[in-house]
Amino acid sequence: MTLFIRNADIVTSSKRCSADILCENGTITAIGPGLEVPDGAEVIDASGKLVFPGFIDPHVHIYLPFMGTFSKDDWASGSKAALMGGTTTLIEMCCPSRAEDPLEAIRLWKSKAAGIASCDYTFHAGVTRFDESTPAALKAVVEEEGIASFKVFLAYKGAFGIEDTELYQTLSLASDLGVVVTAHCENADLVAETQKRLVGEGKTGPEWHEPSRPVTVEAEGCHHLMTFAEMTGAEVYVVHTSCIPAVEAILAARERGVKASIETVAPYLTLDASYAGKPDFEGAKYVMSPPIRSREHQEFLWQCLADGTVDTVGTDHAPFDFATQKHMGHPEAGKAVDASFQPTGKAADFTLIPNGIPSVEERVKLLYTHGVAAGKIDLATFVRCASTRAAEIFGLYPRKGEIAVGSDADLVVWDPEWRGTISAATHSMATDYSAFEGWPVVGRAETVTVRGRVMVKAGKWCGDPGWGEFLARKAKLS
Ligand code: URP
Ligand code: ZN
Ligand code: ZN
Repeated sequence: MTLFIRNADIVTSSKRCSADILCENGTITAIGPGLEVPDGAEVIDASGKLVFPGFIDPHVHIYLPFMGTFSKDDWASGSKAALMGGTTTLIEMCCPSRAEDPLEAIRLWKSKAAGIASCDYTFHAGVTRFDESTPAALKAVVEEEGIASFKVFLAYKGAFGIEDTELYQTLSLASDLGVVVTAHCENADLVAETQKRLVGEGKTGPEWHEPSRPVTVEAEGCHHLMTFAEMTGAEVYVVHTSCIPAVEAILAARERGVKASIETVAPYLTLDASYAGKPDFEGAKYVMSPPIRSREHQEFLWQCLADGTVDTVGTDHAPFDFATQKHMGHPEAGKAVDASFQPTGKAADFTLIPNGIPSVEERVKLLYTHGVAAGKIDLATFVRCASTRAAEIFGLYPRKGEIAVGSDADLVVWDPEWRGTISAATHSMATDYSAFEGWPVVGRAETVTVRGRVMVKAGKWCGDPGWGEFLARKAKLS
């Protein structure tokens, strides 16, 4: 399979140049001006367009048993939606229950994607308990299953959340194995107590979700993780960082020598806390954890992207339908109209709203529209935080996140002049709503390739379900 991109205005995190790009058998084999077109090559003329390395979303949930339900996308819809938005690699959080073995969980999560995913993918292995069987299981996850990152939750008490002794043991093992530990940082006890108090006071609407997990709760979680990382020497990556005090806690640890990367996610850069207060329970669409914050935090996060303090922008894509699943926290949950809806039988309140916002399809266009086109970040920063840094941190670079000879031919031909509107009526995600309904966007992924195979052409899907490959990664010490 030979693909030839003519007249490419190539933009990576470190260079910009005009050239042709030749791709053979899935990899980039030549870059330069005036290359000869081989016989039989598929030719794409990129005149007037920008060409980026395929984008990487380092934080998605596709198969997610959570809060009494399952997230809505499967790998068919989730990977198609990713590609339609220009994302060619997904890193999914494998989130087993405490009862499940982490090795069996990774195998289960892999089975959900194999033969179905259209884009390439890998996983962060969730560690939701640590006992005497865990070290051997996690070694096998790394050495036999090709996984080079773990995931821990300091939040979600009684579900995914782990105790401090388990956190210590996980980080110690990760340090020995040379594995990065990604972490959801919120103090679980503070959340549980605050939720109890608010619900007891009759404050049960979606707008009370944010006050139940204020910025101090997230900052404590970050400081907590940093202390454990400092004590164990583990490399850590804080997922979905939403606010100023959280970033400050991580920066203080960096000063002390802790190796810590920072992820923020597209919803924090674009939405604000007022959305959770929308009438008619619509605020539930915007319930995620940590919560969407006020505008001052959003502005700070943009600055942190521009100056390199924040490493990556993911989505934390966690899709739940509004009509049924988000309504699990509605006062009249038992009267939901959809036949598939299962009432919880518990008292209805915001703590029962499944946490998460669907956004895997919109991340890149939101970042371009509200970042690049709005003058908040430049093109190199855009590529760095939406692609290259994730590849570097998670052992995929330079195979992914780069346009260079030898890299995978994952390319996004981007039309910066395109104008459109986001809508659930036209998106490829499986959810019945978009958190960005009616929002105007600047630019789109016009052509998207994965290892030389064109998956999106003229903004339309032409992909190949099952084309996606699992990306085996090696721990840093091996
Ligand atoms: O609200 C969120 N973030 N839902 C998905 C689970 C998680 O915490 O990542
Ligand atoms: Zn999380
Ligand atoms: Zn998540």
